[in-house]
Amino acid sequence: MSQSESSQYTWAGRFSEPMSELVKRYTASVGFDRRMWRQDIRASLAHATMLAQQRIIGRQDLADIERGMAQVAREIETGDFVWSLDLEDVHLNIEKRLTALVGDAGKRLHTGRSRNDQVATDIRLYLRDAIDDILILLDTFQDRLLDLAEKEAATPLPGCTHLQVAQPVTFGHHLLAYCEMARRDAERFADCRRRTNRLPLGAAALAGTTYPIDRHLVAELLGFEGVCENSLDAVSDRDFAIEFCAASALTMMHFSRLSEELVLWMNPRFGFIRIADRFCTGSSIMPQKKNPDVPELARGKTGRVYGHLLALLTLMKGQPLAYNKDNQEDKEPLFDAVDTVSDTLRIFAEMIPGIACNPERMREALRQGFATATDLADYLTRKGLPFRDAHEAVGLAVRRAEELGVDLARLPLSELRRFSALVEDDVFAVLTIDGSLAARNHFGGTAPTQVLAAVSRARARRAPPATG
Ligand code: ARG
Repeated sequence: MSQSESSQYTWAGRFSEPMSELVKRYTASVGFDRRMWRQDIRASLAHATMLAQQRIIGRQDLADIERGMAQVAREIETGDFVWSLDLEDVHLNIEKRLTALVGDAGKRLHTGRSRNDQVATDIRLYLRDAIDDILILLDTFQDRLLDLAEKEAATPLPGCTHLQVAQPVTFGHHLLAYCEMARRDAERFADCRRRTNRLPLGAAALAGTTYPIDRHLVAELLGFEGVCENSLDAVSDRDFAIEFCAASALTMMHFSRLSEELVLWMNPRFGFIRIADRFCTGSSIMPQKKNPDVPELARGKTGRVYGHLLALLTLMKGQPLAYNKDNQEDKEPLFDAVDTVSDTLRIFAEMIPGIACNPERMREALRQGFATATDLADYLTRKGLPFRDAHEAVGLAVRRAEELGVDLARLPLSELRRFSALVEDDVFAVLTIDGSLAARNHFGGTAPTQVLAAVSRARARRAPPATG
């Protein structure tokens, strides 16, 4: 290779021939890691500031680097930046352009640093930002759920076990169950953020560096809460990415469950809800169709996020310390998990207010399902019948009601008394859907007053702390 040919490649000094085109394509990551360009520049500026502070590079070098990086950032933002596969990844692309703009100062930037600790730092910064966005999205989603739960606090819905009608619940109560899930999801992301928010830079390739660096200063400049304490661990650890994918997998699983219910409820056999048209699609052949594509896709995309979690776990399991090129494969799963969770949260937050329910259909399903049978058993038990006997008596009553084609509340008193003489005319208050709902009036219960109280508690939890 001639001098001018070889100077293209960062490590050309050691090599006698250029990399094959296929290998170049196989090993390059710039196609996907360029999305971390802001984080890469931020981290480089913090590193350069520290180098100057420690007199490892000159003040003028720092000024040149800052000026050059501002230009690089402008070029990337406006789309004028030329990304090159020859330069492998986001780090080398930016460094090369910086050097073209400011000369030797650009070449000094990489002092005391390796791409190994550089990339680890960039991903952590990227993920930290992504988590912050996701936490806001989770908040918005919960807000929308709370609004709908408040509106539907007294709307009865068939509560199911085994997907068979079990007991009446309020639609608001049902929605609040998903609010609890979202709250735990947020806790998990916030917890993952703590371990993400530690600085690897300074580990250099793996063993640290011979320069008198100040890692704590870099951590402070970048807003990291701590510094990775072991240089080998710093460059090889991807636990935080795996944790993120695990938290994402759980979040998606929750959305998948909600999606499954929305799809069922939208089926005319249920007919419990309608989802606003802007979230549905039609069929190219069947003119009558309205399909709940958004929940269906959320259910489907859950699988791909599970896949990312497994991909990262598998990626790491055979790696000896410290950095291995395998690690480059962490980014696409991670980025796709970020995109999928964020988009799902965004779209659900928009869709929730577009859900309209049909309370009459819900009541009808409750009646057909004899949903107040337990209430009748409880009634008899309160009057002194052992619960097991009450259970049997009510079972017979349900059979009779089924024969007559009516729900329990429509059975005449005389019919009910055939199953237990303890039944009196106060029984009908117990057999109505609204009576059943109102009776479950304890903390965490489904009674409308409890739903409203739970909505207020959830809102208070998230309100910013009062100042002063
Ligand atoms: N593109 C690489 C990655 O994502 C950057 C680190 C490369 N380090 C190395 N020694 N080749 O992991």
